Amino acid sequence: MKAVVRDRYGPPEVMRLEDVAVPSPRAGQVLVRVVATSVNLSDWEGLHGSPAYARFGGLFRPSRPILGSDIAGVVVSVGADVTDFTPGDEVYGDILSMPGGFAEYAVAPAHAIAHKPAKLSFAQASTLPQSGAIAVQAVARAKPGRRMLINGAGGGTGAFALQLAAAAGIHVTGVDNAGKLDFMRSLGASHVIDYAAEDYTRTGPYDLIIDLVARRSVFSYRRALAPGGTYLIVGGTTRALLRVVTVGALIGALTGRHLSVLAVKQGPAQFSQLAECCADGSVQIHIDRVFPLAEVPAALTYVGTGRALGKVVVLVDPAADSA
Ligand SMILES: NC(=O)c1ccc[n+]([C@@H]2O[C@H](COP(=O)([O-])OP(=O)(O)OC[C@H]3O[C@@H](n4cnc5c(N)ncnc54)[C@H](OP(=O)(O)O)[C@@H]3O)[C@@H](O)[C@H]2O)c1
Repeated sequence: MKAVVRDRYGPPEVMRLEDVAVPSPRAGQVLVRVVATSVNLSDWEGLHGSPAYARFGGLFRPSRPILGSDIAGVVVSVGADVTDFTPGDEVYGDILSMPGGFAEYAVAPAHAIAHKPAKLSFAQASTLPQSGAIAVQAVARAKPGRRMLINGAGGGTGAFALQLAAAAGIHVTGVDNAGKLDFMRSLGASHVIDYAAEDYTRTGPYDLIIDLVARRSVFSYRRALAPGGTYLIVGGTTRALLRVVTVGALIGALTGRHLSVLAVKQGPAQFSQLAECCADGSVQIHIDRVFPLAEVPAALTYVGTGRALGKVVVLVDPAADSA
């Protein structure tokens, strides 16, 4: 099969398209013929091995040569003990624990995938599992009428989270680069901030801050929180993460705020309901660009350099997606 592989951490140039063996599913796993894979910032982090948590499972060299975790495709075969899926089923899910989606075939843990809603194309379905799960769990922490801020809101996760927050009656502020301000407004942001022009931690205060790209000190996060408010880091630098779980937790406890990590639960229970909302049109899926498998390096660069409005999809089998 064709796959985009790499054998070391580095820039997109370390990746190449190669012929490799089709993987075999073990007990509890499913072999999927991949039709579409969406790109997440976690792919870019896994490519570079940075932040440090992206080297989980491979400190010096990547333990898995193929990246890509949000897949949608068709079940080809199932391993022992798999009862929920049979060959021919159309499925989608996040295989972050064993990535391999930038390929014609990928193995998925059966518990990580779900049957694809018929109304969603494979490309659309592939955008949901990781970004959707984060967005749902982030917005679940907010309360109607309260002030929420999402830092990094113009990307894949933010595009879902802004819509969910606005629909729930939450006053939501989106922070991202200048090219994404109109996009965030169109998704329901009540207020937008260009992070290059204004320091969001000097605005507010906010009842809930969801930070997808944390890089600041815990003192600035604390400053931006209303009394009783919560700051949750979802992604960002290792330094920011470590500061939040140590000094941040202490400062929060001393000042009546809460600074912590949003440890995102994965799996269909986290994204299936959002998929139904997308299927019935109450939530929109924004696919900015679609790349062929051979252009995975360009697709990752597009997301990693912050140009994508919403999601980017790698269409592995265009004919199957339009069927
Ligand atoms: N906690 C967990 O369990 C868990 C699980 C899975 C994933 N994650 C994390 O969740 C995050 C999801 O991100 P995503 O896939 O939605 O990313 P994305 O689509 O790349 O969106 C991130 C956005 O943030 C913007 N940005 C970058 N630096 C910024 C800054 N300093 N201030 C404001 N905005 C900034 C980017 O644009 P520019 O680059 O132009 O600024 C981009 O628009 C990732 O960090 C991933 O590692 C966490």
